[in-house]
Amino acid sequence: MSVLSEAPFIVGYYDDAADASRLEAWQARLQPFLPAIQLVPLASPAARDAMAVTVWKPPIGKIAEMPNVKGIISLGQGVDHIFRDKTIPEALPVVRLVDPDMSVALGHWVCLAVLEKCRKAADYRVLAARREFRPLPQTDARAMKIGVYGVGAIGREVVRQLVALGFDVTGYNRSPRADDIISYHHGDDGLKLMLEEMDIHVCLMPLTDETRGFFNKSRFAQMKVGAYLINAGRGGHVVEDDLLGAINSGHLSGASLDVFEQEPLPDNHAFWGHPHITIWPHVAAQTNPQTASEQVARALVAFAEGTTPDNMVDKDRGY
Ligand code: GLV
Repeated sequence: MSVLSEAPFIVGYYDDAADASRLEAWQARLQPFLPAIQLVPLASPAARDAMAVTVWKPPIGKIAEMPNVKGIISLGQGVDHIFRDKTIPEALPVVRLVDPDMSVALGHWVCLAVLEKCRKAADYRVLAARREFRPLPQTDARAMKIGVYGVGAIGREVVRQLVALGFDVTGYNRSPRADDIISYHHGDDGLKLMLEEMDIHVCLMPLTDETRGFFNKSRFAQMKVGAYLINAGRGGHVVEDDLLGAINSGHLSGASLDVFEQEPLPDNHAFWGHPHITIWPHVAAQTNPQTASEQVARALVAFAEGTTPDNMVDKDRGY
């Protein structure tokens, strides 16, 4: 990566979910690859000279004001937080993280949510709070059908872990897909089968115009009575009022959610304290500068050299 080791170069940094020490952590991890790098907060005057930005939920309009930016790197696997800013010039390349360590972490979280559901963890917590030492009938986990929506680079690892635990997993993707690990559905007919047959629905899709509001009233109504939703995609995939309605009516048995339409989840949100909804503060796969810094450095080099970076987002697809 010699191209960027001589002249100092500036990269704008913004992470709306982290404190200031996070910038230092990234700076320390990037420097061994790019000795002359200077990460600066997006709001600082120095950011005007930035050749690239690396961001999570950047303020709308900010990147468009930076004349020398050659590319944008998402500090997460998703990029919807960048595309919500319509002022960003169309021609700027956007790179997302595809970090195997994050995929492993996401797999662990999904397995945890699935196991909690299968092993009635919430019910046992209620019993324990009452000091009741009482067995409940055990679910036959092998008979549980798990549907994973959005099996891409990250989803493949999630599926691998679920299969290793012995679960019966089916994937759903927009277009046909095949591998020798699980079977897949696609298209409208495939979606109907997923909704009707799965016991647990795991959302890992990217948020695009097409997938916004995907899990809504009519789709919940097509699910089995007692079905359960696990969302590690984006809050925007789920119509939250429809989910509440489906759970409160007893049609769905509950949900485990890591992502929400509004984050942080507002104080007065009906999900808080709901006995059948498990809330996580968007931590299923936290970005790790230690494991992700090399690909960030590579993307910066590609921007500087004018070559195509790895994991560049297809703007028409939205991921
Ligand atoms: C987390 O949600 C990410 O996009 O990495």
